[in-house]
Amino acid sequence: MEVVIQPDAGAIATLVADEIERLLAARPDAVLGLATGSSPLAIYDELVRRHEAGRISFARARAFMLDEYVGLPDAHPERYRNVIDREIAGRVDFAPGAVQGPDGNAEDLVGACAAYEQAIADAGGVDLQILGIGTDGHIAFNEPGSSLGSRTRIKTLTSQTRLDNARFFDDDVDAVPVHCVTQGLATIMSARHLVLVATGSAKAEAVHHLVEGSVSAMWPATIMQHHPRATVLVDPAAASRLQLGDYYREVFAAKPAWQGI
Ligand code: GLP
Repeated sequence: MEVVIQPDAGAIATLVADEIERLLAARPDAVLGLATGSSPLAIYDELVRRHEAGRISFARARAFMLDEYVGLPDAHPERYRNVIDREIAGRVDFAPGAVQGPDGNAEDLVGACAAYEQAIADAGGVDLQILGIGTDGHIAFNEPGSSLGSRTRIKTLTSQTRLDNARFFDDDVDAVPVHCVTQGLATIMSARHLVLVATGSAKAEAVHHLVEGSVSAMWPATIMQHHPRATVLVDPAAASRLQLGDYYREVFAAKPAWQGI
């Protein structure tokens, strides 16, 4: 696992956008994994800037979302499908239908989860997966206790996650759905490059466990320690509980710039 400590979200976004620009230049039909939440927003803004400047095209790329709430009306602004369209997909040149997400309103949710797994496999798998992390260590919506071998399925959100996400629902925790469909931990682990971003002191404990804790379903993101190519980009506040923070800084400072992340 590579840990990259950067001064702020803007510097993190630059490094991640550099990597995506490099990937799309080498493989214009690359498959991206898109995350919701506030953590990736600076990355999306940077990608839009580069797209508008003519540096990046998504015209041949495809993308898969991580997760979706169950039961939100199609037009609800916080439905993750609408969030992704608003924050990134609708601001760049993805072809129609190129961005897919799990269907949280399917009549047959179990069948829809299996179909989503198949769609990712049919696309050849995800090349670069963007991730945030919940304060309880979840990635996508894989809450503590999630099977480390899980695939796309229905999950129940913890009250902590519903409280954390209430800010997107006018601070009304009761308006946050109880259920979701989410890529499983094994689904996420199948992506070829995992790029997790976290900022702020509220994430410090989760980041400490992710990087330096024991691998455990209690902190689901720790499964990333088993991934051959996982990059964790954090600001100083999110890095504040890392025991080897100075070492991670030395390693990145000594890395040739051409290697990227
Ligand atoms: C949400 C999403 C995750 C996200 C996490 C952190 O519940 N399902 O994909 O990484 O919580 O969100 P934020 O980046 O807003 O802190």
